[in-house]
Amino acid sequence: MKMLHYWGMVKQRRRSQEIALMETKKKKEESEDLDGSFDPPGTKIIIDYAKIRSMDKSPLERVKNLTTEEYELYLLADAGIEHYAFLNYLSATYGDHRHFTDIGTRVVASSVAVGSNLKSPVWTFDLPTSYERQQAFRGDTEEEWQTKAHDIGLNVTFHNLDLMKASNEELKKYLDTWFVLLDTFHQPDTVPFEREFFQRMLDIGFKGILCLDDIHLNHEMKKWWNEVQDGAEGGGYRTYDITEIGHYSGTGLVDFSGKVTVNKS
Ligand SMILES: C[S@@+](CC[C@H](N)C(=O)[O-])C[C@H]1O[C@@H](n2cnc3c(N)ncnc32)[C@H](O)[C@@H]1O
Repeated sequence: MKMLHYWGMVKQRRRSQEIALMETKKKKEESEDLDGSFDPPGTKIIIDYAKIRSMDKSPLERVKNLTTEEYELYLLADAGIEHYAFLNYLSATYGDHRHFTDIGTRVVASSVAVGSNLKSPVWTFDLPTSYERQQAFRGDTEEEWQTKAHDIGLNVTFHNLDLMKASNEELKKYLDTWFVLLDTFHQPDTVPFEREFFQRMLDIGFKGILCLDDIHLNHEMKKWWNEVQDGAEGGGYRTYDITEIGHYSGTGLVDFSGKVTVNKS
């Protein structure tokens, strides 16, 4: 009887080990499938206005002390006032192990919002001369800030570089994911970074989703957003103005993947 019980336990243990091995293999295959892919996860990315408006803010609460004290308020503001509620929704609903690219770090608010699922890494970019992010460290060193972030599972990598000087190969590496937020100078006529950067995204064949912040901020941004919309057919993308649940100054999506569906009801 004892012997039978022993062999039963051995068999059960082997079976559990086999299941664990199979699960690890499946996860590895899934992650390899996604590596180096612009393709957004799943079959659809639904921009669900009702869900975004009623999003649980606790993921943002958990990361709020990693931006400046002043920005905590903006981070927790409702959808339609600030875009962080939308970024929280996107991160929680669709974030996978691939990084989010966040261009325009400033005080790290968009980085912590999009990384708030505590699973997807965030690669954030700012100019070589910009160290505004230090304000978000609240007197800590960058290393101490990183320790605090890692302790709660937030993974942010800071890049200080001029993306327009990056080679196509380098740019592909930085943008090699499904969601990119572009929130930079906002004067695309005076300082044509946004316009030129958008062209480079087309040139390297980006096929994910680009989110543009502040599309209605000023005349230059409005004009450029119109241009982006007009170029949709030729550029092989669709545009969506999601300001109602984004930033009051205008939030636009440029969907190169064809997976975005906007559900306003
Ligand atoms: C509006 S702030 C970004 C705010 C941040 N994304 C958020 O939502 O919390 C704009 C930032 O873009 C940066 N910036 C301006 N031109 C840039 C460029 N060419 N490349 C990268 N960053 C740039 C500025 O230094 C500034 O930190």
